[in-house]
Amino acid sequence: MNRRQLLAALPGAAMTALPLVAEAQTVERTLKGLASAKGLLYGAAVANWQSDRDALLRRTFSRQCAAVVPEWEMKWGIIEGTRGQRNYSAPDRIVSFASSHRLAVRGHPAIWHRNLPRWVDGALKTEGETVIVEHIRDLLTHYKGKITSWDIVNEAIEPKDGQPDSLRNSVFLRHLGPDYIARCFEIAAQADPGIQAFYNEYGLYHNDAPDTARRAAVLKLLAKLKSQGAPIYGLGIQGHLTVGRPFNPSTFASFLREVAALGLKIMITELDIDDRRLTQTISERDRLVAEMATQFLTVALDERAVEGLLTWGLSDKYSWLNSTTNQTRTDGTMNRCLPYDEKFDRKPFWFALADAFNRAPRR
Ligand code: XIL
Repeated sequence: MNRRQLLAALPGAAMTALPLVAEAQTVERTLKGLASAKGLLYGAAVANWQSDRDALLRRTFSRQCAAVVPEWEMKWGIIEGTRGQRNYSAPDRIVSFASSHRLAVRGHPAIWHRNLPRWVDGALKTEGETVIVEHIRDLLTHYKGKITSWDIVNEAIEPKDGQPDSLRNSVFLRHLGPDYIARCFEIAAQADPGIQAFYNEYGLYHNDAPDTARRAAVLKLLAKLKSQGAPIYGLGIQGHLTVGRPFNPSTFASFLREVAALGLKIMITELDIDDRRLTQTISERDRLVAEMATQFLTVALDERAVEGLLTWGLSDKYSWLNSTTNQTRTDGTMNRCLPYDEKFDRKPFWFALADAFNRAPRR
């Protein structure tokens, strides 16, 4: 028997005659694949304690995601609990997790009013801007060449605080004054001119009074930053949505348009859909979560300035909305806020994401 006869006699030989389309159908549909077919990025947040213990989580990450963001490890309070003693070992492990699964990393967050070291308040009071210069410079220098997409300032707007321009009454505003936000972007660009620097914010999606006020204030802030020439690349829209709060597609679409018209890109950075208000059966809850995902994603992905989307985790099992300190549901069931359930089975939310990527215009 020669080689050709041998090959023809093999059981798989008939397969070669199958039409190409049958082969195509066997290719696994993945979120990163569907997104990247449209020029979009898909990724998720992770923390070391989750990836350390769960092979299924690691496998799902490497199959489904093109990017990762540290859920916890890159926050200032974790890195520099004691002043001058910076410890990057925890966030470095996220970066090595990323490189072993071929994931891009988003840096998050350089400046945020939460998870701060205790010493920061006093240091800002006596030394002023030097304190944030040192932190931003050291953080960005440490990750130079490894991280190019950064949330430089996170959640600086809070209309309820009653400050001029709805700026959050944070330690940064109190000790550095209202121009600290523009300064953070300048400091970041000096440390690493190659980065995409984002302003990241929550509460920008619903059609109710708090989100309406925050949208207006964020637009005003972004317009001001642009007019001052601050080196800002885009707006990160967190996307912590709640089923039951109103969503108006045209209101959200015009907000995205206005952001894009300022010359900014947009990233959905922390999507999850809180179902704490729902009392229905599990399958009905899942359907309503997916329905809200579809409404939100249809508008978001239709806007060409939107470059990608990260969910705040993959599985309900590890969501911050199910952590022991943040039990968001009172009936003892898990909040079903993410694309995978606790066994890593795909839920209707996963299919809503897949369909939305499929329908999105190509970038
Ligand atoms: C949350 C994490 O999920 C928690 O594990 C941590 O305890 C606190 O921070 N907006 C943000 C994220 O920008 O960093 C927050 O992440 C969720 C809200």
